[in-house]
Amino acid sequence: MKFNVTGNIEGIREAILARLDDLYNYELEDGEFLPRELMKILAECSCAVNREIALYITRDGEIVSVSVGTDCDVELTDYRLRRNVNRLSYVRCVHTHPDGDGRLSDVDLSALKIFRYDAMTAVGVKNGEPTFVQTAFLVENAEVMLSDTARWYKLPDAEWLNQIDLSDELVGREETKQVEDERERAVLMGIENTESLEELRRLAETAGAEVVGAFLQKRDKPDGAMFIGKGRAEELARDCQALEADVCIFDEELTGMQVRNLEETLHVKVIDRTALILDIFAQRASSAEGKLQVELAQLQYRSARLIGQGLVLSRLAGGIGTRGPGESKLEMNRRRIRERMTELRRKLDELEKQRNIRRKSRERNDIPVVALVGYTNAGKSTLLNALTGSDVYVQDQLFATLDAVSRRMETAEKTPYLLTDTVGFIRKLPHTLISAFRSTLDEAVLADVLVIVSDGASPDMLKQHDTVEQVLDELGATAQKRIEVINKCDAADPMPSFPGAVMISAKTGEGLEDLKAAIASALQETYAPVSFLIPFSRYGILAEIRGMGRVITEEHTDEGTAVTVMIAREDVEKLVRKHGADIIRQKD
Ligand code: GTP
Repeated sequence: MKFNVTGNIEGIREAILARLDDLYNYELEDGEFLPRELMKILAECSCAVNREIALYITRDGEIVSVSVGTDCDVELTDYRLRRNVNRLSYVRCVHTHPDGDGRLSDVDLSALKIFRYDAMTAVGVKNGEPTFVQTAFLVENAEVMLSDTARWYKLPDAEWLNQIDLSDELVGREETKQVEDERERAVLMGIENTESLEELRRLAETAGAEVVGAFLQKRDKPDGAMFIGKGRAEELARDCQALEADVCIFDEELTGMQVRNLEETLHVKVIDRTALILDIFAQRASSAEGKLQVELAQLQYRSARLIGQGLVLSRLAGGIGTRGPGESKLEMNRRRIRERMTELRRKLDELEKQRNIRRKSRERNDIPVVALVGYTNAGKSTLLNALTGSDVYVQDQLFATLDAVSRRMETAEKTPYLLTDTVGFIRKLPHTLISAFRSTLDEAVLADVLVIVSDGASPDMLKQHDTVEQVLDELGATAQKRIEVINKCDAADPMPSFPGAVMISAKTGEGLEDLKAAIASALQETYAPVSFLIPFSRYGILAEIRGMGRVITEEHTDEGTAVTVMIAREDVEKLVRKHGADIIRQKD
């Protein structure tokens, strides 16, 4: 059997190892510094093996490591879960002294200083029972503050937890300035091709990283344990060290185990493409709903990687991959992740209900919707602005727009419609995100006409177009009329050929009139003014027609009510099937 307990476990009975291993599932309650139950387990095990045992507990109450030492010493580990090495580590170290003396030693205190633990605690144990306990904290100028020794069953939990917060503030105050404008140094690792790697570079930069190196290793099949194979991983570790990297970003989705193995080998934070995209979405989300959706997607991604494997330590280190929407930090604790996910789902359900109400009212107005869809950075927002004269956020960055933005427009024939800009698509768009952004992307699914915008200046235009088609298929947006648009014609060299596409430049305005005409004719194909003549005897049909279309004129004649409505072609067919073709007014 394999155990996660580390250190000197030789010769220890399996039953005890299993008991210690079980501590990884132990979660401290809020307000607990060191529960008695936990001390008793430590005392029993420590005495049974006559060795020191150390636990590392995060500030969220999760036990991230259990380690066994010798009878007078346990190797204390560097568990700095924060990027700024000068801050407190976010983890406290609790360990036993099997000689019964619960006082901290000089070695313990120097470990506290070096590793900047939140706190360092010694639990004296004798004859299988805890005796007394002492804790030390760091304060200003990295001085040590020692607590009085306390009897094991009378620990001042609240006071000690409080002291951690105080210490954090005291130590942090001196250091916060330093980290603020530091960009993370990222090394990229791709296994597909240079285009995908180049895109990863843009994603990393969009997330705020400085890319200091990029490597490509072509593989048909990823290695199970580390994705890139042990030899290459060791080489990459040397590269990361030489380049002074803080983070290594993989261009594929990694399993939790692979992340953990890689972090152990590379000694830097490891994240994958999905986590990177989620991070960008978290930074970009601006509507209340968008923020909830991204956080839920992040937690789903994270919880799928926590199951059965403790916590990937450096995830706590801060920076890219650990940031929730807005200023928030992502929840790390398994139990709280579950609770938070339930809460987010509930809030989203409520918003969903409200949105349905809004959508219904829009349906009643029955204005057709034209959605701009396309690969990220294709120029959709610029185009929306150019067509409507509005002021949507445009940036040469990936995913500048996350929330759907709609503007009311009219064709030259005065047919009104809503023009909607949607979130950009991207290769390997994380699945959790597709479902999270369902509501935004639904704008595309529900649209009457899709304008597919492609970046004519990108050498990857055709591949990007394929991706967009795939995502649309996945969303079930296949039935609508489509207009293909090649944007950035001013910058395209050579001009791409794409039969049937409208060539435009959102920047210079070239081709925009053609595009407007194409939209008008597409709308007319699906949605046109139709006149009905309803005899007074069949008055009920009028209500039905009014519910389906937007009434333009209505007058009473001798034969009945004459009504002209903007109505979708399929609705006309439905009416004719039900009531006969003679309800349609023939032109005189
Ligand atoms: P996402 O929000 O990521 O989906 O991007 P988007 O498709 O909305 O692209 P956006 O409108 O933000 O434009 C991306 C970049 O392309 C910006 O730097 C624009 O200035 C630039 N751009 C857009 N249209 C044109 C164009 O016609 N010609 C040129 N040369 N650049 C353009």
